[in-house]
Amino acid sequence: MKSVTVKTEFKEYDIDLRKGFSNLSDTIKKSGVKGKKICVITDSNIEKIYGEMIKIAISDYFDEVYIKSFTAGEKSKNLETVSDMYKFLLDNHFDRKSVIAGFGGGVAGDMAGFVASTYMRGIDFVQIPTSLLAQVDSSVGGKVGVDFCGTKNIVGAFYQPSFVYINTETLDTLPEREFSAGMAEVIKYGIILSDDFYNFIWDNKEKIKERDKDIMSEIIAKCCEYKAYVVSNDEKEQGMRAILNYGHTIGHAIETLKEFQLIHGECVGIGMVSAMKIGVDRGEVSQKDLDKLKELLSYFDIPVSTDGLNIDDVYNQMFLDKKVSDSKINFVLTKGIGKAYVTSDISKDEIINAISYVLK
Ligand code: NAD
Ligand code: GLY
Repeated sequence: MKSVTVKTEFKEYDIDLRKGFSNLSDTIKKSGVKGKKICVITDSNIEKIYGEMIKIAISDYFDEVYIKSFTAGEKSKNLETVSDMYKFLLDNHFDRKSVIAGFGGGVAGDMAGFVASTYMRGIDFVQIPTSLLAQVDSSVGGKVGVDFCGTKNIVGAFYQPSFVYINTETLDTLPEREFSAGMAEVIKYGIILSDDFYNFIWDNKEKIKERDKDIMSEIIAKCCEYKAYVVSNDEKEQGMRAILNYGHTIGHAIETLKEFQLIHGECVGIGMVSAMKIGVDRGEVSQKDLDKLKELLSYFDIPVSTDGLNIDDVYNQMFLDKKVSDSKINFVLTKGIGKAYVTSDISKDEIINAISYVLK
């Protein structure tokens, strides 16, 4: 199976796509990770399904394997959970040579990475993502962190893993809703970077929905290549990396205001519809492309609008996001499909129209 390399200023690492966990020891050995003691940070669901399996897979290499889990879900992604993890590491004498693994979806990966980046000023960190969203996006690129005081990912760091190991077979147990949410991020890559990839998704949508193994491996590999390309060019989001935030500005605001009743990928789907609406109003995207996006999202059961929110609340919440600098919002828009750009030259009216388009 495939490997993709990420090259940043100070770190180069592989994303290995494999079937099963049996190749994990090989990935660990070639990655240069030296420690012999590891804490696998995971959530309660993943521990139940894969806890034993991961323990067996890495016991070959590590002398001491600990598993620390938290209650699954975005509501756990906070400093309280992190504090509990620091305590666990201290109680079990983890030191500078120890290793932390993020094992699970984006919540486990983001939080494990944040713990690794801060415990003893930074210890080795590896990513073993199990949700589609984490495999195509969050495990790659080193953004780690937690939510704080109602704002998403506002406390965090850039901290690259030593490797990413993707066992594509874990998708077999992923709930439908989580699979759909991951598809929102997959579709995002097509819209921002490649109309060919977008068309590939359209052409293979039935097989994707059935989770055809070959097609899913191809899709995950392609997304990892896109993400590796963007991160390798702009690790710290000084420029092009911002395009990965397509749909996230309004999406994050909705995610917070809905108090996590809608999951991240669903909010990204709604956010992409509103971002594309701005493109249509500007004459940069056709109404047909917007209608097709809604059709594709709906095909994968991703919501394209939401209810119960007030336009001004969404607008105000957007200004609490990291994408705001000097009180201006950096918005990601596209010209047609496949060509994203970032602009802060956007009026309040344009944003309000875009928000109202996705509020029922
Ligand atoms: P998640 O981590 O909550 O996982 C979703 C659910 O699926 C959880 O209940 C989990 O237990 C379950 N699950 C995961 N893999 C499974 C499997 N193989 N089988 C059965 N159940 C499984 O959510 P997510 O959608 O993976 O990630 C969302 C998070 O990622 C958000 O916090 C978001 O902010 C973050 N994110 C980070 C980045 C980044 O660059 N760091 C990018 C995108 C999103
Ligand atoms: N998911 C956005 C990023 O990694 O930059």
